[in-house]
Amino acid sequence: MIAGAGGYLPGRLVTNADLAATLDTSDAWIRERTGIRQRYRVGPEDTTTSMAVAASWRALAMAGATPADVDLIIVGTSTPDQAFPSVAVRVQGLLGIESGFGFDVGAACAGFVYALSLADELIRAGRARGALVIGSESFSRIIDYTDRGTCVLFGDGAGAVFLKAAEGDGGPADEGGILSTHLHAQGSLGDILFVDGAVGVLDSAGSPLPGKLRMNGREVFRHAVQRLSESVDEALAANALSRADVDWLVPHQANIRIIDAMGRKLGLPPERVVITVDRHANTSAASIPLALAEAMEDGRIGRGHLVLMEALGGGLVWGSALVRM
Ligand code: UT7
Repeated sequence: MIAGAGGYLPGRLVTNADLAATLDTSDAWIRERTGIRQRYRVGPEDTTTSMAVAASWRALAMAGATPADVDLIIVGTSTPDQAFPSVAVRVQGLLGIESGFGFDVGAACAGFVYALSLADELIRAGRARGALVIGSESFSRIIDYTDRGTCVLFGDGAGAVFLKAAEGDGGPADEGGILSTHLHAQGSLGDILFVDGAVGVLDSAGSPLPGKLRMNGREVFRHAVQRLSESVDEALAANALSRADVDWLVPHQANIRIIDAMGRKLGLPPERVVITVDRHANTSAASIPLALAEAMEDGRIGRGHLVLMEALGGGLVWGSALVRM
C-alpha cells in the first residue's frame, strides 16, 4: 500500500513573464496552449539527489516510517547527477540505510509509473517489504533555453511515495494496495521526444555533448491522447471496474489539454482530477508523486479512494497504475 507521499520543489520560481523577457513567447500563449503559469528551477544548492532525499523524508514522515523501514529504493529519473552511482543508491546513503538495494529507472516522464510497477512486483515477490519510489528531475539542465517549443514546458522537482508490503499475503488487502500496473513502450517513436546527447557522447568537434531535449510537440500530443486513453481502458478492464468507480485521476502533468481529455474520458468532474501543471509545469518523472503528495497532504485523497495514475514520455514509454489508497 502507499503509506505516505511527499514532494519537494526547488527554490527558484520562474514565471511565464520571466521567460517572455528573453524569448519570443508570451504568458497568454503558454497558459492557453499548456495551462502552465510558472515552474521551479534548481539552483546550485539543489541536485536531483538532494531533492529526492527531501521528498523521501516527507513521504516517510506521512507514513510514520523511518529509513530503517526501507529495503528498496527505485528512482525514476532522466537527469541523474552522475552516470553512477545511481540516484537511488546516493539517496540510500544520505538516508543512512545500510542494507537492501536500489536502482534508477530511465523511462522519461513515465519513470514514476515504471518505478512503482517494479517496486510493487518486487514486494509481491517477497524481495522487499518497504520501498521508496521516487521521481526526481533537474530538467532545466537538459533544456535548450533558445527553443521556445520546449523550454517553457518543463520544471524541476521531486516526489516520493513509501510503499509498504501488505500485512497478510502480500496481495492488495483491505488496507489498500496497488491493484494493477501496465507498462508499454514503442521504440520506433524514439525520435519524436529525445535528448540529443549523454555523458560520454562527443559532438563532431570532439567536445562533450551532454544533450538537450528535442521534441515534436504536436506528434507527442497526438500519441499521448491516444495511448493514455487506451491505458485508462486497459486499467479499468483488467480490474473489472468502470469509470464511475474511479475517485481520483492523478495524471502526468504535461499539458492541461491532455489532462482535461483524460478527465472527460473518465467522466470525472474537474475537481476529481489533481492538477499541478499550472504551478509546477512538467516535472517529468516527478510530476505524479508531486501531485499525489499534494492531494494526500491537503486531505483530498484519503484511505479507500480509488486513484488512477497515467503517464507518457520519451521513448515512447507509457503506462498506468490503479491504486486503492
Ligand atoms: O511529458 C512528456 C510528454 N509531453 C507532452 O505530452 C507534450 C505534448 N505536446 C504539447 O503539449 C503541445 O504540442 C505543445 C504545448 C508542446 C505545443 O502546443 P501546440 O498547440 O501543439 O502548438 P504547435 O507546436 O503546433 O505550435 C503552434 C504555433 C507554432 O507557430 P506557427 O508555426 O503556427 O506559426 C509554434 O511556433 O505556436 C508556436 N509556438 C509558440 N509560440 C509562442 C511554439 N511554442 C511557442 C511558445 N510561445 N512558447
